[in-house]
Amino acid sequence: MPMILAANANAQGSHVGEWRHPDAWDRPASNLANAMRLARIAEAAKMDLLFLADGNGVRNLDKPDLFAATSPSDRPGVFEPVTLLSALAMVTEHVGLVATTTTTYDEPFSVARRFASLDHISGGRAGWNLVTTSNPGDALNFSHDEHVARDDRYERAGEFAEVVKGLWDSWADDAFPQDKASGRFLEPSRVHALNFRGKHFRVAGPLNAPRPPQGHPVVFSAGQSETGKELSAAHADCVFAIEGTIERAQILYRDLKGRLAKYGRAPESLKILSGVTIFVGETEEEADRLMAELDALVPMPVALDYLSKMVGTKMSAYPLNDPMPQFREEHVGPTGIGRAILAMAAAEGLTVGQTARKILPQMAGNLFKGSAMQVADQMERWYREAACDGFMIAAPVVPTGLERFARLVVPELQRRGLFRREYEGRTLRDNLGLTRPENRFFTARAAE
Ligand SMILES: Cc1cc2nc3c(=O)[nH]c(=O)nc-3n(C[C@H](O)[C@H](O)[C@H](O)COP(=O)(O)O)c2cc1C
Repeated sequence: MPMILAANANAQGSHVGEWRHPDAWDRPASNLANAMRLARIAEAAKMDLLFLADGNGVRNLDKPDLFAATSPSDRPGVFEPVTLLSALAMVTEHVGLVATTTTTYDEPFSVARRFASLDHISGGRAGWNLVTTSNPGDALNFSHDEHVARDDRYERAGEFAEVVKGLWDSWADDAFPQDKASGRFLEPSRVHALNFRGKHFRVAGPLNAPRPPQGHPVVFSAGQSETGKELSAAHADCVFAIEGTIERAQILYRDLKGRLAKYGRAPESLKILSGVTIFVGETEEEADRLMAELDALVPMPVALDYLSKMVGTKMSAYPLNDPMPQFREEHVGPTGIGRAILAMAAAEGLTVGQTARKILPQMAGNLFKGSAMQVADQMERWYREAACDGFMIAAPVVPTGLERFARLVVPELQRRGLFRREYEGRTLRDNLGLTRPENRFFTARAAE
């Protein structure tokens, strides 16, 4: 099984200063031409998939410096991701197309329908990244006064995933003969109305789309709390995980794979992709230089606002040269990222200013930097030593970072036998080594 390589397809990349770099594409906000070119770069390199993180709210209106400069996860000017991937499906043939959609502020029927359509449009290359929404402000755009609490979000997410998968199984694979001669468009005995009634949803079904080419589009999830991990074990085909060290990634890998048996699943049925920012150059010095160039494009007030966003506390109130304060848990925000940043600052004895600078390239996540050999060595180690099944790659600057990765690192991984030279199959599932799910309603009927 080759290493899985996914490209983070955010048009603004992953570094706050990135869009200002001379090599970065001009005018990245909602720019279709750029997205098409990025998709072609990933496909030419035989990468598995393009991945779009997403949210439904414009963030950081309360942080004027950062708001004006924008950070990659603020996304004030982006496409709705499934809409964008439908367009990218028309200019690619093999690369997988994975979009993030929340279970907290959407409806399972709509999500099942959208991803079934994308799977048909792309000939079986769709993936749904199921999230429960990290940004509390998104709630205000969906008639809520505040963000739904974590446990409630995950309870709803579990039921949501059940309904979506049930709806994808609405029709047998042979339900649509569309036979002009007999006048039979569909086979009435080959449809199943879900009639789901749960705590959160009441959905009659059937879905108004034939069964997706992959049976079910590939389901990703991203969440690292207990409940988040349990949801992944129950429902996901792939997990997008972020850990800063190989040791922590190995623990998470064993933890997630170890949860599968109780759902009757084999360890290889869940693929774990580790998020990593990759700075690669012809030489180590070139990679260092790019990182320094990007950091120089972020003035200190913007860097401080960015740190404030990550740790959930206004950092401009603290002297730059003081040690980074250790806030109590409830001030650190909803995700593990803030806690990881505080732990790193404490371990390395960083000041406020140093912490703000340090997190610019990779937040508190993982970073591989150096020549192609050095980067490939690190990737090989993580892969062979059971820290991940592959990588979710952010490669500053867009697009030259991904081009450099494709030109320098991919051939080295191929030479080592770690990565494919040609796509194995037609669908995203084929390429990821995932089986096509049985239809839960129609295998049962056939057995009767
Ligand atoms: C690696 C990773 C990527 C995520 N991507 C998104 C995203 O694109 N959009 C979003 O709304 N939430 C995203 N989330 C947030 C999760 O869906 C979840 O709401 C949040 O992490 C809190 O849950 P947890 O405590 O289980 O991690 C992501 C989380 C992780 C760990």
